[in-house]
Amino acid sequence: MDLVLNALRAAADPTRLRILAVLESGELTVSELVAILGQSQPRISRHLKILVDAGLLARFREGSWVFHRLNSEGGNLSPARRIVAMIPKDDSLRAQDTGRLKEIEVGRARAAEAYFAKYAPEWDRLRQLDVDEEAVANAVREMMPLVKTQRLLDLGTGTGRMLQVLGPDVGEAFGVDRSHEMLAVARANLKHWGLENCQLRQADILSLPLPYGTFDAVVLHQVLHFLERPWAALEEAQRMLSPGGRLLVVDLAPHDQEELREKHAHRRLGFTDEEVREWLADQGLTCETIRHLKPGALGVTLWVARRNAQAAI
Ligand SMILES: C[S@@+](CC[C@H](N)C(=O)[O-])C[C@H]1O[C@@H](n2cnc3c(N)ncnc32)[C@H](O)[C@@H]1O
Repeated sequence: MDLVLNALRAAADPTRLRILAVLESGELTVSELVAILGQSQPRISRHLKILVDAGLLARFREGSWVFHRLNSEGGNLSPARRIVAMIPKDDSLRAQDTGRLKEIEVGRARAAEAYFAKYAPEWDRLRQLDVDEEAVANAVREMMPLVKTQRLLDLGTGTGRMLQVLGPDVGEAFGVDRSHEMLAVARANLKHWGLENCQLRQADILSLPLPYGTFDAVVLHQVLHFLERPWAALEEAQRMLSPGGRLLVVDLAPHDQEELREKHAHRRLGFTDEEVREWLADQGLTCETIRHLKPGALGVTLWVARRNAQAAI
């Protein structure tokens, strides 16, 4: 009973209820919460501490950024989620906060798009600066053996690197990216590599215009660390997989290169094995293998997960 009383006492404040409501959709930094709620940093930090102490929020530090998210232990039955569920969606303050959150997200998405548009012509060179891409490509081929009858989907394909690595092994492959400029380079690359079985689509990987359950293999190579909600990309990837199909996630291991945020539009400084394994499990995917590489200045992790062979589409 003490736990419930503590949680209810902590939530019994208008600003703290607003914080809980705005965190329903994901994780935010202290400065983002300050911008959304329009209150001073010390005040917001004090409210956050009370919510963390009461077990309603979880906090984690990554470099100089501190993220907060709802403590969702217990899923939809967690005290934090139950309290948020009681706040009407059309409450005027809640709607105002959600509007400000959307503005922040749109601003960040535009900045990331501008970054990829600017660097598209150089991307094939930039990708190799921190990581030996041949070592990664060899691990990708080993961990994702494919055959000519299979279909591959590369999400956030950029200039088409994963299509180059895995495309020759499959019958048909699709690469999806939001950036027109990246896709223009990918198109030229595919022609140069003679990969006539590969096609490109301009789309948001969080809302794919492709039929569900039709891909034997889905790949997310160095994409998650750019996203506000990396788990949302895994959710959409999972929908694309045929029963028994495999998802390969390749991303950076945790690191402290803060400048990647300012200069290269990264949102997250890598991911732990457990974090991604849990997101995969949340999607009903079984993580079968995890491999770590240190092919350069930064560590790279590869996760392979499988969709249940009996899953309904
Ligand atoms: C770092 S690049 C990686 C490209 C490629 N996978 C590679 O390894 O070279 C990340 C790519 O994800 C794309 N991207 C980021 N968010 C996206 C979204 N929501 N929908 C579609 N593409 C997205 C970017 O446009 C960019 O081309």
